[in-house]
Amino acid sequence: MGASISADGLERIDPPRGERAPILAVLRERTRAEHGAIERSLGLMSDTLSRGEYLRIVERFHGFWRPLEQRLAQTSGLAATGVDPASRQRAHLLLADLSALNEDAAPEPAASPLCADLPFVGSVPAALGAMYVLEGASLGGQLISRHLRARLGITPERGGRFFHGYGERTGEMWRAFGAAVSALVLTAEMEDAMVQAAVATFRTLGQWCEGTPATS
Ligand code: HEM
Repeated sequence: MGASISADGLERIDPPRGERAPILAVLRERTRAEHGAIERSLGLMSDTLSRGEYLRIVERFHGFWRPLEQRLAQTSGLAATGVDPASRQRAHLLLADLSALNEDAAPEPAASPLCADLPFVGSVPAALGAMYVLEGASLGGQLISRHLRARLGITPERGGRFFHGYGERTGEMWRAFGAAVSALVLTAEMEDAMVQAAVATFRTLGQWCEGTPATS
């Protein structure tokens, strides 16, 4: 057991890791409300989802994923955890989807606005908390992908690559991410930093999709 100063400045006694809930369960529980909120506000599973609404979501996701992935690539020490952000980058899939959806003019990366109000990912716990959200989107993506095909005729080959995610490898990729995160020895302070980053990632993405925060 050890003492540490948490983000709120209070000293706390860290119980040994075994006495706390597994970190993935903690992340799921403490972001449940944010997941529900973004699921509702995006309306991706709506029976009335239009091609235009979907296109806007892809555009906003691209504006969030691309700069956040760039920051994650700069977080030192992340690859040593066994989670390689480079192999999990998916902003290029969003760009490919934008090109497929705007058949006449493939947009340049700079053409769609990029979010400047990103969550902090400068430490390994914060980066993993943000990646929990980005990676988790591939799970719901499996349902969304089927809905896009049924409702709008959008297939992975024609505008639906991002939500198709890792395809058949989605479960495997999620388990590998979970295993790497679960294997870390985390203090309560690191766990808090991870949860805070996950919550902030859901919230900033949600606000960005609603069109409120600043662009770069
Ligand atoms: C309409 C939109 C969405 C739907 C219907 C949806 C649905 C789901 C479903 C069904 C799961 C559980 C999958 C499983 O256990 O195999 C899941 C997990 C998850 N989703 Fe979503 N999702 C949506 C959007 C998002 C978005 C936009 C994000 C992040 C940006 C996200 C992040 C996550 C995360 C982090 C998990 C993992 C939860 C855990 O710890 O088990 N989801 N989602």
